[in-house]
Amino acid sequence: MRMVAVIAAAALLTASACGSGKNDTPPPATVEVFTWWAEGGEKAGLDALVARFDADCPGQRFENGAVAGGAGVNAKQELTRRMARHDPPDTFQAHAGAELLDYIDAGQVEDLTAYYESWGLRDVLPAGLIDDLTVRGKIYSVPANIHRANVVWTNPAVLAGAGITTPPKDLPAFIDNLAKLKAAGVEAPLALGRDWTQLMLLEAVLITDLGPDNFAGLFTGRTDWRGAPVTKAVNDFTTLLGYGNLDRDTLDWPQAERLLIDGKAGYQLMGDWAAADLEAKNFPGYGWFTFPGNGNTFQWLADSFTLSTGASNITGTECWLKTVSSATGQQLFNEAKGSIPARVDVPSSGFSPYQQSAMTDWKSATQVPSCAHGSGCSQAWQSAVNAALRSYSTSPDPATLQAALAQAATQFVRP
Ligand code: GAL
Repeated sequence: MRMVAVIAAAALLTASACGSGKNDTPPPATVEVFTWWAEGGEKAGLDALVARFDADCPGQRFENGAVAGGAGVNAKQELTRRMARHDPPDTFQAHAGAELLDYIDAGQVEDLTAYYESWGLRDVLPAGLIDDLTVRGKIYSVPANIHRANVVWTNPAVLAGAGITTPPKDLPAFIDNLAKLKAAGVEAPLALGRDWTQLMLLEAVLITDLGPDNFAGLFTGRTDWRGAPVTKAVNDFTTLLGYGNLDRDTLDWPQAERLLIDGKAGYQLMGDWAAADLEAKNFPGYGWFTFPGNGNTFQWLADSFTLSTGASNITGTECWLKTVSSATGQQLFNEAKGSIPARVDVPSSGFSPYQQSAMTDWKSATQVPSCAHGSGCSQAWQSAVNAALRSYSTSPDPATLQAALAQAATQFVRP
């Protein structure tokens, strides 16, 4: 009985479609794009990419699978759940480097090497980045951008109120400035947020105290996490925490950034997605400098997009990936996102003064990866370090933190 009704309804639909002659165009196919870009400058970047996708890919419709939470803290958990029930989005955001390797090893992403050939990507992406995306001779994602992690953002008016008009030349000078701000009555001289943002701060201090080469060695097994330079870095990191807001563990990065915008903080260490976000939040007068003591080190990370194994709309996803990797797509996306194009052939003219400085630095700087943003660490390693930092934030014992950091490295370093 039910079957008869279904067949009758289908016959009716077919008849009306043929009869009108107007409804021959199939409805657009959807491409579900999974990111953690849900607000502010991050959403502005995504929106710019979607506008280009709409123009490049007629017959395809963008479906927003974004899950809010800086650095993907919530999105990555949701992605794991979806993968487990074989319900992947068509494409998802993944950091180039160790984090991408997690998905490759789990068989969750498709080989995109052929697209690199047909879209000519090998000629327009930096060789080092292609190396970071290549595993056993194959490439599994297309990069959208390069972000820099080791940047301090400032509220110049707050600093001027404490007599600070130039960037500190090294870490001791930075700590002096924090003390000056505190003495001038600034509530939280250094705006701080939850676990992964504290990891970013610790990494910046490690670059200063170990130098870029030994810092990079922390993630390859070449540098010992139990050594005296790491002890010094943990102590310096602890000093910096002492100049931050006490509610740090409850704030995501945009809420910590709000302290800066509202004049309750003088500085925030954050990746350069902050540049676009500060502009999106009507605070274009920000200042910036590389974290004190990092010299010309550029701590990089790159957002890239994949084709999920089992994606339901392969044609549409190909078109999304082509837009992401195109010169125009990268220009529009990055102008809005605060990052710089991964491609080397995008003109710098439309970019902000901050972004133009980052483009110049990217070419000449010493590059090191980021654990908090997946270029240096696997997700398991990153989670272990974030957990150690959460404990440290509530019961600060430097020796326990250093031992936990060393333990995570022993457990998760890839041979
Ligand atoms: C990073 C990501 C950036 C930005 C940031 C804050 O992991 O690569 O694009 O979104 O998190 O959420």
